[in-house]
Amino acid sequence: MKPAIVFGTRPEIIKLPPVVRAFEKEGIRPLLIHTGQHYDYEMSNVFLEELELQRIDYHLEVGSGSQAEQTGKAMIKIERVLMDEKPDVTIVQGDTNTVLAGALASVKLRIPVAHVEAGLRSFDRTMPEEINRVLTDHASDVLFPPTEEARRNLEREGITENVYVTGNTIVDAVLQNSEIAEQKSRILEELSLKPKGYILITAHRAENTDSRENLEKLIGIFESLSLPAVYPMHPRTENRLKAFGLWERVGQIKDLIVTKPLGYLDFLRLQKNAKIVMTDSGGVQEESIILNVPCLTLRYNTERPETIEAGGNVLVGLEKERVLEYVNRLIEDEEFYKRMANAPNPFGDGKAGERIASILLGMYDGGKLVVRSSRFI
Ligand code: UD1
Ligand code: UDP
Repeated sequence: MKPAIVFGTRPEIIKLPPVVRAFEKEGIRPLLIHTGQHYDYEMSNVFLEELELQRIDYHLEVGSGSQAEQTGKAMIKIERVLMDEKPDVTIVQGDTNTVLAGALASVKLRIPVAHVEAGLRSFDRTMPEEINRVLTDHASDVLFPPTEEARRNLEREGITENVYVTGNTIVDAVLQNSEIAEQKSRILEELSLKPKGYILITAHRAENTDSRENLEKLIGIFESLSLPAVYPMHPRTENRLKAFGLWERVGQIKDLIVTKPLGYLDFLRLQKNAKIVMTDSGGVQEESIILNVPCLTLRYNTERPETIEAGGNVLVGLEKERVLEYVNRLIEDEEFYKRMANAPNPFGDGKAGERIASILLGMYDGGKLVVRSSRFI
């Protein structure tokens, strides 16, 4: 069997190695296609090195651009590779423009598409990611929702065939790397941070960083925190802060350390030892509950509601009073802190990658992937 794996951004590079490894264990070497949506060393190569995914077969160098420009460029380049290579299945993961481009290019060539992390919904169509999720799920032939809740979202949209709940490969990634991170990373020492003595922040979503008003709200929050904080900053956020003339103000915030985006081992160690995580990232919401660190999400909705229901995550939005109320409660109320920290992980047992590979291999018959579906009759 010849699977092609299309990816292009930081979260995909982190969440796909468990699937690659599972195929390799079966003696199959998936074709690796990197769109180049993320291209800075800190957003791509550092992860390829740390997670040993350096043998990229095609690097498409799509880069940044408007939504259509980026997606269109990626589609054109992916299509060429798929036409030359004729894989049996194209695997995509998540909700980025790379994912939509890979799914559309593949399905139109009648190469089956398998979507890892299918069925997530924020029910907010103003997010580019939500459009990508819905369209990719409907273009896919095999769907791997991480949870029952994600499976039910697919069912509500009429997608019921070839749907397999596998858990999320982020659990595989965290389990495989958190010990290594503890041993290898020196980030706490380098930044002079004490375990459980700081808040870890990430924020990069378009809805939070593309408007001056929301960036100012974020800054207002960071200026009022009662614990030291560390913020490895996504290049999108740095660029927007500079464009709005807000960069200097961030630099002046007392007890806020802003760093470049960090490699996975440094980031995992920082996350595991944080008192509180404050984020708008999808992957970071997932990792916090896996690592038993309370998460405050700087958004008004989430496509990871399982973390809220389990009690490990709260949607605090961007209103300073509400955010600070939760930060202070977590610092002062030990019982409340423990309840959030001990919330059960809803994303599975760390064997999602193996399940995904084994299900796809089970569908391979007579030299091709046989996807039985009444949708195509
Ligand atoms: C993308 C995904 C988002 C995901 C995030 C992961 C879409 C629509 N969004 O958002 O869902 O959470 O990746 O991090 O696909 N930039 C650099 N260097 C890089 C990459 C980006 O400087 O290596 C800057 C550029 O100014 C670029 C901006 O960041 O215009 C945004 O990058 P882009 O890939 O369009 O979206 P992300 O915000 O990274
Ligand atoms: N991450 C990292 N270094 C950082 C920030 C995040 O390694 O400086 C990792 C984090 O551990 C998680 C992933 O990047 O696994 C999340 O990616 P991101 O927030 O960019 O995207 P999202 O999950 O929101 O799509």
